[in-house]
Amino acid sequence: MKNILAYCRPGFEKDCAAELAQVSSEKGFYGYAKVVSDAGYVVYCFEQTETIEELIKQLQFNRLIFARQIIAINELVEFESGSRVESLLEAARQLPLAEEVWIETADTNDAKALSGLIKKLDKPLKTGWKKSGVLRNKAVGVRHHVFLLDGEAAYLGVSYAECRSEFPLGIRRLRFPAAGPSRSTLKLEEAFLQFVPEHKRDTDLLEGMTAVDLGAAPGGWTYQFVKRGINVIAVDNGPMQKELMSTGLVDHEKADGFKFEPPYTVDWLVCDMVERPIMVAELMAKWLANRWTRRAIFNLKLPMKKRYQEVVLCLELIEAKLQKAGVGYQFQAKHLYHDREEITVCIIAQ
Ligand SMILES: C[S@@+](CC[C@H](N)C(=O)[O-])C[C@H]1O[C@@H](n2cnc3c(N)ncnc32)[C@H](O)[C@@H]1O
Repeated sequence: MKNILAYCRPGFEKDCAAELAQVSSEKGFYGYAKVVSDAGYVVYCFEQTETIEELIKQLQFNRLIFARQIIAINELVEFESGSRVESLLEAARQLPLAEEVWIETADTNDAKALSGLIKKLDKPLKTGWKKSGVLRNKAVGVRHHVFLLDGEAAYLGVSYAECRSEFPLGIRRLRFPAAGPSRSTLKLEEAFLQFVPEHKRDTDLLEGMTAVDLGAAPGGWTYQFVKRGINVIAVDNGPMQKELMSTGLVDHEKADGFKFEPPYTVDWLVCDMVERPIMVAELMAKWLANRWTRRAIFNLKLPMKKRYQEVVLCLELIEAKLQKAGVGYQFQAKHLYHDREEITVCIIAQ
């Protein structure tokens, strides 16, 4: 395979490409991106084509911020009239055997118009794949992806377990809870699912723990703690949802989130304040360096053009401050599906 196809949120193609360029060049892989604005994906072409699988493994999908999915691909498959499945199958014979095949498209309004065609192709594609022997149960962890661009062409490629998202289109869909005070609640729910591994959710999000929520109103993020029986100090001058306040688990502090200091060390700090990313990064570093919290989840709002570069500046600032304070930590950052012009960062101090 020659190239990488990365799915991303439409409008974030340049950021996804900038990150791929930076991270892959750090691993000794050089290339260039083909970017179409608002397409919802990026194709990254490499010079060292024979080792793309190796690069994908080294990229560590969970370390990538803007890519929702990464797939190793060859050239575009252009369909001959009336034989889409046959054209794809011919190209599939050049790929490693797989245990399954998915058919997808970009997360854009234009691409949504392809949903009828995707439904129509799904069954014949899976049957064709099975019959021709490119699907094998023993090809564990290898998945073929057909990424439909329109009715005339698709990218066909391969993803590998542990180096990819397990969700169609790389999107973790969540249902809005009826009692949720705001749609923002889904951002923190997705962040917990993304950053707190399943085997740690019982111990890291335990009833009776304590949290501070900076910029809490009306309470979507606080709600995620309260539903787990976690006590929250909600800091915001704005009003909190009444039902949340009546649980007795929330202490509403009408204060400035940049000046507030916790009365005791808390288990979690979360922050959704709309502020310059560098200010938020500085504040988070202060809390972690002072050991006011061990865990922090926060949004970096990115209304600027060079979003990836801004994120790098923020992460470097945090690294410098925590290193100076002698605080070891692990971090992950992701442009989650429920994020819009922002990314979510999780830092766990040791
Ligand atoms: C995006 S909203 C938060 C939504 C909330 N996470 C939820 O799920 O409902 C941002 C909030 O930050 C608050 N905010 C902005 N600057 C603040 C500051 N300096 N101190 C405290 N709150 C602040 C605003 O009042 C607003 O309620």
